[in-house]
Amino acid sequence: MIAPGYPAEMPRFARGLAEVGARVLGLGDQHESALGPELRRHLAAYQRVDSLWDEDAVMRELARWTSRVRFERVECLWEPGMMLAARIRELLGVPGLTVQETIPFRDKETMKTALDRAGIRTPRHARASTARQARDAAGEIGYPLIVKPIAGAGATDTYRVDDDRELDQALARVRHVPEISVEEFVEGDELTFDTICAEGRILYFNMCWYRPRPLEGKLKEWISPQAISLRDVDAPELAAGRQMGEAVLRALRFRDGFSHMEWYRKKDGEAVFGEIGARPPGARMVDLMNFGADVDTYRGWAEAVCHGRLSQDVRRRYNAAIVFKRAQGRGRIQRIEGLERLNRAIGSHLVVVDLLPIGAPRRDWIQAQISDGYVILRHPELAETLRMADLVGTDLQLFAD
Ligand SMILES: Nc1ncnc2c1ncn2[C@@H]1O[C@H](COP(=O)(O)OP(=O)(O)OP(=O)(O)O)[C@@H](O)[C@H]1O
Ligand SMILES: [Mg+2]
Repeated sequence: MIAPGYPAEMPRFARGLAEVGARVLGLGDQHESALGPELRRHLAAYQRVDSLWDEDAVMRELARWTSRVRFERVECLWEPGMMLAARIRELLGVPGLTVQETIPFRDKETMKTALDRAGIRTPRHARASTARQARDAAGEIGYPLIVKPIAGAGATDTYRVDDDRELDQALARVRHVPEISVEEFVEGDELTFDTICAEGRILYFNMCWYRPRPLEGKLKEWISPQAISLRDVDAPELAAGRQMGEAVLRALRFRDGFSHMEWYRKKDGEAVFGEIGARPPGARMVDLMNFGADVDTYRGWAEAVCHGRLSQDVRRRYNAAIVFKRAQGRGRIQRIEGLERLNRAIGSHLVVVDLLPIGAPRRDWIQAQISDGYVILRHPELAETLRMADLVGTDLQLFAD
């Protein structure tokens, strides 16, 4: 497993692997002492490298291992490590996504081009590495547009542009990005279609609804962004997205492990493809799935990739909402208001309250999706879930100074 200690969810996937009987060997750039006792207990061995991006050095370290150990799988659930994982798989001849199969998951233009060929509705799009190419693309696609990196994450360097002047402004801001995607701006709701697959079969899937759309939540600090894992995934308004999701996995020949697709639902119901990762979503969304059905998809994923099955009962019983909070003011957290009242009002539906403690410095809310903390709650009914999530948005406030 590459990068078993980072990001925060990775140790739980390592735990899952160990629990289903795998001997887990970790490869990462963290010092072993930084991994923590819990993770170390689940790793049969750990190899530290100075940098995961110095591939020659990584391969040299690996060679010392592979002379003694037979690797059956190479797993990486962290976006930046996907390509390294694919290279190692090819080197060792183990199953899983190859380099060629990984590229469409990493390069957003290759991704959409592959899906266009499969007849999937993507936003009109073009690749641009110069301002000239971007302006030509704008001329062809028409405003409003989205300008974003070919391999972006967390909506960084992503801009909506409505006219030539805004396009020039956006291009000036993304000058450090070597290649961009220029896309038709799609109006609508934004949702996910996430799966755990084995041998090309979908063993589990999840659909989340982002409120508001992620880009909007990234632009306005006062917003408490939400994601809602939906209980009724058979609702007619989700059918088009689910069908698209299944077609996308087939088109990209995704067979094993976690996938995370985002899609747009237009007012007229049409589903439009957003993006897909061959990995789970971040920002505690795996926990959100778990709370929706009282399952452990960390272990479920591990069982799927190691044994080709998922033996847990994955029936959904709740809608589960996560609400990210951002403190008012700069500096350190000084006080938290509204928590007692919330507890009295909806306490029995709150499952996680994980806020920065008093005195802690604020997190960078642009970089860190979890911002200054989050609350997870759940309820069998969607309307009630949304009402409570909104209450956490308005009535729980953190103050920094
Ligand atoms: N074509 C589009 N039409 C409308 N909105 C878009 C479009 N492309 C991107 N966006 C907005 O920008 C956000 C970020 O874009 P996208 O999901 O492609 O990139 P990302 O940075 O990889 O996202 P993530 O936060 O999932 O890592 C989307 O969630 C959406 O709100
Ligand atoms: Mg996205």
